[in-house]
Amino acid sequence: MKKLMAANWKMYKTVAEGTATARELAALVAGSMTDDREVLICPPFTMLAAVREALGDAAGFCLGAQNFYPSEQGAFTGEIAPEQLLDQGCAYALAGHSERRHVLGESDAFVGKKVSFGMAAGLKMILCVGETIDERRAGKIEAVLASQLRHGLRDVLDRSTADNLAIAYEPVWAIGTGEVAGPEEILAAHLFVRAKLIEMLPGCGADVRILYGGSVKPDNAAMIVGLDNVDGVLVGGASLKADSFSRIVLA
Ligand code: PGA
Repeated sequence: MKKLMAANWKMYKTVAEGTATARELAALVAGSMTDDREVLICPPFTMLAAVREALGDAAGFCLGAQNFYPSEQGAFTGEIAPEQLLDQGCAYALAGHSERRHVLGESDAFVGKKVSFGMAAGLKMILCVGETIDERRAGKIEAVLASQLRHGLRDVLDRSTADNLAIAYEPVWAIGTGEVAGPEEILAAHLFVRAKLIEMLPGCGADVRILYGGSVKPDNAAMIVGLDNVDGVLVGGASLKADSFSRIVLA
């Protein structure tokens, strides 16, 4: 199973900045990246094509979208359809990122709709799950993760494969805060997600990749990707600079 090292650039960068970062990153890892790694860049929509071109045929790289609207086409002002993302060269898309759940108000049901629609359209889906600090303090981690997985995967149980689905465990309190979950916390959450995947997807649950996200940095990446059931990382802040993200990719 290849480790998926994913960059989420969120709402940062101009086209010139994004293409420069992509080129620099590809050059920094060229020749050093082992073929058990896959690097995913999720830039803003405005630079998908430009970043794809900047990456050229860099081995092991692919492109993803941070979001889309679950419809083929239509009068949805401001939205982007999966088909349009595939047209730009996207292989992956995120759904259920905590910023979309908590800032943009996306519901569990809407996240589930995106996972099934995106997968049916041909995108590989990364379903993000994770508890808030209040839910953690209230001892509700497992209930929250189970519910987010159940809703998120509700309509794809028969369609998911280890190739078209990944889960990103991102504790909300660790995203963008510099406060990374400790190894015991990551191990416990990933073990729980793995057990749920095996229960829900008996055919492929053992092989679906589970990424960790939340303040991953060059100095903690090797420890995190070395943990059991951690099959990659989803990186925000530290993915914006080629130098720091290249050290994560090679960790
Ligand atoms: P962070 O973001 O690495 O800046 O904590 C992670 C994410 O939002 O996916």
